[in-house]
Amino acid sequence: MESIGIGLAGFGTVGGGVYKNLEANRALLTQRLGASFEIRRIAVRDLSKLRPVSAPASLFTSDLAELIDDPAIQVIVELMGGIEIPLAFVRKAIAAGKIVITGNKALLAEHGAELFQLARERRIPIFYEAAVAGGIPIIKTVREAFIANRFESIHGILNGTSNYILTRMTDAGLDFEAALEEAQSLGYAESDPTLDINGWDAAHKAIILASLAYGFWVQSSDIYVAGIDRLTSDDIQFAAQLGYTIKLLATIKADADNAIEVRVCPTLIPSSHVLASVKGVFNAVWLRGDVVGESLFYGRGAGQDPTASSVIADLAESAIALESPRRCYGFTSHDLYGKLKPVEAVVSQFYLRLLVDDTPGVLAKIAGILGDAGIGISSVIQPEGHDAGQLPLVLMIHDANYGRTCEAVAKIAALACVKAEPALLPVETFS
Ligand code: NDP
Ligand code: HSE
Repeated sequence: MESIGIGLAGFGTVGGGVYKNLEANRALLTQRLGASFEIRRIAVRDLSKLRPVSAPASLFTSDLAELIDDPAIQVIVELMGGIEIPLAFVRKAIAAGKIVITGNKALLAEHGAELFQLARERRIPIFYEAAVAGGIPIIKTVREAFIANRFESIHGILNGTSNYILTRMTDAGLDFEAALEEAQSLGYAESDPTLDINGWDAAHKAIILASLAYGFWVQSSDIYVAGIDRLTSDDIQFAAQLGYTIKLLATIKADADNAIEVRVCPTLIPSSHVLASVKGVFNAVWLRGDVVGESLFYGRGAGQDPTASSVIADLAESAIALESPRRCYGFTSHDLYGKLKPVEAVVSQFYLRLLVDDTPGVLAKIAGILGDAGIGISSVIQPEGHDAGQLPLVLMIHDANYGRTCEAVAKIAALACVKAEPALLPVETFS
């Protein structure tokens, strides 16, 4: 029976989960794979920390080099978080000829192009199932199961923390801070939850998915990203009145000229759409391939055990790769697409919320600016129960160019009768 040596870098939420579940299902995995995994070293920052998952003290080190230097370690599992330290560590692991597994979407989104190039040169696979959508096997699906397809679109709810917060705010009336604290205590949030809240954690995952689906590495500086931090409970309620639910949605689409649109932002989706019913920490990916048609993947997007499930799947892939080396090293570039659509060129329906003076003629001024820009309004609501003198005004805008819509909204924001910064959110109808 072959034994595969593993160096585990990180023993927090996910690393602890990998160790715990490898031990719990050791016999099952060994029988299924015909090989056994031996964790030979565990790297952490603080050796004195009390840990909810226990492992023999002799395995722990605070020196990452010990994992690289041990010739009996064939597979490095990077679960530390951050970028600079894992980047240097993964470069060294590849140079040392070790298979790499990582759940670090920030690392891959920012440095994937370089790391996959190094992996290709050294003929070492990098596996990263846990980096996108937690326990959902979407990387293997896009890379392997759907290899026959051109992807027309991929829509995803890709951040468990944001979805958990939106759900708790909507269904339980919690305020933002209380819902975030719950997500942190459940191990869903990043060590710096800013990335969850400002949309960048989901954006990193969207970059990885888009790069994998379209064969060129998408640059983080070229995509549009906004988080749930500026969303108000009013927006959630107005959207509901109009028949929509607001989700932090990743939208990845190819147009007829093969230009790829990638954006992550709070988006109104029809409440009747299947993605609107994805609640709590659950993630979902809804994609359209030209061969397979529409497919939906749903599961837990964060947390110890679901994420460990994906890391262990990558360990199984590593066992297979050690047995028979592969041609695919985790990401294959090709030149069938190669260009991103600038966000200004994106065409979408929009939701526009304003706070305006309650005086005659206000609606006409606003409609005039939109009309002059060739932008049509499909509906207007002026909710009851507002403070005297000012009131919210919500406009639904027909398909319009984003750049032109922003210019018109800037003119509207400059009107004396408009009292606060407008909220402009896209509406995705999936048509
Ligand atoms: P945690 O903060 O819970 O754990 C990080 C671990 O890495 C800790 O054990 C920490 O040591 C160790 N560590 C950090 N820096 C170093 C270093 N320089 N040298 C050695 N060890 C170090 O993070 P998570 O487990 O939540 O996340 C790990 C990775 O997995 C991240 O990239 C995250 O984005 C990703 N991920 C997380 C998911 C989740 O649900 N939490 C889901 C999917 C992916 P110490 O314990 O001593 O501080
Ligand atoms: N913080 C991430 C989330 C973890 O909430 O989705 C999973 O990648």
